Amino acid sequence: MERSFVIIKPDGTARRRVSALVLKALLDRGYKLVAFQEMKVPESLAKLHYGVHKEKPFFPWLVDFISSAPVLAMIFEGDEVIQGVRDALGATFVQKADPDSLRGKYGIWAGINIAHASDAPETALDEMKLWATEGGLKESVDAEEIAQAYIQKYISGDADYTMDLRSAVKDAIEHRDTSDNVLDSLKNLFAKDAAGIDKNDTDTLAKVVFDFVLEEVEKTE
Ligand code: RTP
Ligand code: MG
Repeated sequence: MERSFVIIKPDGTARRRVSALVLKALLDRGYKLVAFQEMKVPESLAKLHYGVHKEKPFFPWLVDFISSAPVLAMIFEGDEVIQGVRDALGATFVQKADPDSLRGKYGIWAGINIAHASDAPETALDEMKLWATEGGLKESVDAEEIAQAYIQKYISGDADYTMDLRSAVKDAIEHRDTSDNVLDSLKNLFAKDAAGIDKNDTDTLAKVVFDFVLEEVEKTE
């Protein structure tokens, strides 16, 4: 029986209904949930988790992104769960992900892609060990019950600001608009369905997404 370490990233968790939909889609594949915890990721843990990318130009941004606002950290168990979750998520870059995949449906832009999932048995083991020791992630017999309660709490209604967020980011990059209006609209959109999440955190998330816009615009100067 295989295990995969999965994170619903800040851009997913701050949109409560979207995170409930993603969680439900993964549970509906029949995997067992053995750990489920909402937490802020300390910068030190973010750096270790994404250590494999530490030489990449996007590493500092990635660390800021994952530690900007709360995430849902979890462990799924099941036959071929590692590949299964990655198939459900789709390609890394949102604009390359199949429109029916979870990143294709709910991702915002590029690497602002709602979730992380382990990519191999070895990395899954390393990640589970790291998040247990540095993140306090604990296995729990109640994990599935807690996740179902989360889904029940947030899934109803029609809140889904994916297209608004996607347009805000895409249009800003295309029109080279780096004004405060873009940042303000990102702050508003990330606060709309963020029950229980501190406004400072959704503002920080918005700022990190805005930093991505700034970097994209600078690249084409
Ligand atoms: P993850 O580790 O988050 O599950 O994503 P992944 O395996 O599909 O992709 P990976 O190559 O491991 O990249 C990790 C995360 O870094 C961000 N990223 N940004 N060029 C870029 O701007 C860039 N490339 C990667 C994404 O958030 C990606 O999920
Ligand atoms: Mg990866």
